[in-house]
Amino acid sequence: MKKAMWAIFGGALLLYVVIVMAIAVGPAIDLAQTPPGPGVKPLTPLQAEGRQVFASNGCDYCHTEQVRPLPEDKVFGRPSAPGDFAYVTPEMLGSERTGPDLTNVGNAKPSDVWQYIHLYDPRAVEPASIMPNFKFLFRVVDKVPAGDTAVPVPPAFAPKHGYVIPTQKAKALVAYLLSLKQAPIPGYRMNGGMGGPTSAAAPAASAPATSASAGGYVFDAAKGKSLFEANCSACHQSTGEGIPTAFPPLVGNPAVEADDPTLQIETILHGAHGKVISGKRYSGTMTAFASQLNDTDIANIANYERSSWGNHAKHVTPAEVAAERAKGN
Ligand code: HEC
Ligand code: HEC
Repeated sequence: MKKAMWAIFGGALLLYVVIVMAIAVGPAIDLAQTPPGPGVKPLTPLQAEGRQVFASNGCDYCHTEQVRPLPEDKVFGRPSAPGDFAYVTPEMLGSERTGPDLTNVGNAKPSDVWQYIHLYDPRAVEPASIMPNFKFLFRVVDKVPAGDTAVPVPPAFAPKHGYVIPTQKAKALVAYLLSLKQAPIPGYRMNGGMGGPTSAAAPAASAPATSASAGGYVFDAAKGKSLFEANCSACHQSTGEGIPTAFPPLVGNPAVEADDPTLQIETILHGAHGKVISGKRYSGTMTAFASQLNDTDIANIANYERSSWGNHAKHVTPAEVAAERAKGN
């Protein structure tokens, strides 16, 4: 009787140890030996501090940092690979996808000013956002201390008096968020993952492509509006009014109103920073869209800007975008 009991106990223990080795210890050792992927860099001390702020504020309750090989995750980038996590163990993969995946947010939202305004009050840049505000990561002061920069929170969301200044924690957190950029894997081609279309079979709608023959182009206002909402309104706002001192208004913007669309197209293709626009400078950075939007997309967005919010300017064609793209950066 006793012998049988020991056999059951011993057998169960052995099985337990084998399972633990196989599903926990083995993979952990394997992962620890995975070399960093090409272009994957360790975090700077400030970014590492920001990662702690990210963890302690529960950002990973709503945000994942793992792109799955699924068609619906393609918007976030290529599927995550083990080498991506070489310098960030334990990984914060997350599980709830209440908000967007943040693996590539440094590319998607590269403006520190946008990040600060969004953390201070997400509704200030994304009106329908359900993300909680993180105002406690900011201070409100009467006078901006030397070496600090006030966050240009839109008036409707700003405190009645004083200036909003990011604390050290907010600065570290934003440094961490901006560091989240997926390193490209040389030779890797997006193939849609499980069940998705292969890149050979169907070029993604947003892949850069040579322009459609200009003659056949008709401005698609609905397409222009939805592309503007998806790519531009976070900074320039749906009203085209921008955010004072951070993002310029497109209403009455000289580049948008000009007959010659060169500056407008160039800005959309290659981004911009630090220019004087109608006598003012802006602290934000405009993203480059050359690799994300094709010539027809850009023509539709440009024409949406040219015909909205009271703007009435000459329309541009995909051929003009193609010509500008061909000039290079
Ligand atoms: C209750 C869930 C929730 C929590 C907690 C949360 N977020 Fe969010 N987050 C969202 C949602 C929903 C969105 C999409 C709407 C928006 O942009 O505000 C979002 C959007 C974002 C975006 C923009 C992503 C993009 O690609 O447009 C960033 C950056 C972000 N969150 C960072 C954070 C950080 C940092 C924290 C912790 C300090 C945090 N979030 C906590 C729900 C959450
Ligand atoms: C991350 C914030 C951000 C996003 C997203 C963004 N912009 Fe901008 N945009 C800016 C900033 C900041 C400037 C001012 C650049 C400067 O200071 O040189 C700007 C400038 C411009 C200008 C004026 C250029 C000039 O010289 O007058 C146009 C036109 C423009 N953006 C269009 C767009 C379009 C179209 C999109 C979407 C495809 C877009 N922007 C997305 C931040 C952004």
